[in-house]
Amino acid sequence: MEIRKIFVVGSGLMGSGIAQTALQYGYEVILNDQSKAALERGQAGISARLDRLVEKGKMTAEEKEDCMSRLTITPSVHTASNVDLVIEAIYENLDAKRAIFQQLDKICDDRTIFASNTSSISMTSLAAATARPEKVVGLHFFSPVPVMGLVEIVYGLRTSQETIDIVTAVGQHMGKRTILAKDKPGFIVNRMLLPMLNEAVQVLDEDIGSVEDVDEGMMRGCNHPMGPLALGDLVGLDVCLAIMDTLYAETHDPKYRAALLLRKMVRGGLLGRKTGKGFYDYSK
Ligand code: 3HC
Repeated sequence: MEIRKIFVVGSGLMGSGIAQTALQYGYEVILNDQSKAALERGQAGISARLDRLVEKGKMTAEEKEDCMSRLTITPSVHTASNVDLVIEAIYENLDAKRAIFQQLDKICDDRTIFASNTSSISMTSLAAATARPEKVVGLHFFSPVPVMGLVEIVYGLRTSQETIDIVTAVGQHMGKRTILAKDKPGFIVNRMLLPMLNEAVQVLDEDIGSVEDVDEGMMRGCNHPMGPLALGDLVGLDVCLAIMDTLYAETHDPKYRAALLLRKMVRGGLLGRKTGKGFYDYSK
């Protein structure tokens, strides 16, 4: 089956990044969010980022207009009735994601594949919310989506090989390398990345080094493109905490216990870039 029309649920950092990338690679995209303000922010962000590509000579003004002409924004899920692929990219909450899949299952055509950009929630459990578990799969993008060259494909207990093959082709068509992961907590990348980010917060909490020195340590000492605390701010500290909590809840392994400072930052509303303050101050 050829995928042409994609319905992206959630117009935040990941959803709008996925929508932008899909547009750049020729797909028709419907971007959906309950919040009209979030939809408008998502659309404006896509337009501004494509404008920057035009300024840099990486895209022509006509190509940008062509991308924008293939984008529809809507607060209604009913427009998903005739799409080939749904990519859900809302916040990390099992009940909320299951509710969306349950609702879309009744609206979408039988052929429609349901993908989730979940960072850690079990695909098998999301699939069980639908009557099409063989068509439910993880498509885990990395932030910033238009720049990062990977998509992790996660297969649940009942995901079919055909579904895996179709979404692998979509990921590759979007210019990404794909890796295949079994449905186990954190999959491949976040199983390794999040304990490292969490440990960086622990190092800070134990006062071993300053925010800048923790980050400098990993940037200069290990050639990471950005430090773990800055990366936590980019991903969102609420997302980091949700992933650590899932890893811990699913395994009961103390090595996945979230750093208390991470939990306190989230309790205090210091979520990183999206709230203007995390380990760094982005308000200026
Ligand atoms: N959207 C689109 N493009 C962006 C962008 C964004 N939000 N941020 C940066 N870019 C582009 C810039 O325009 C620039 O493009 P160009 O080379 O064509 O001019 C390019 O990226 C490099 O940007 P900068 O020169 O401004 O900055 P850097 O060279 O420092 O790169 C970075 C920025 C790409 C964010 C780099 O620091 C990086 O790779 N950091 C690590 C990111 C990472 O690890 N992501 C994974 C997070 S984990 C995740 O998402 C999974 C989840 O489940 C938790």
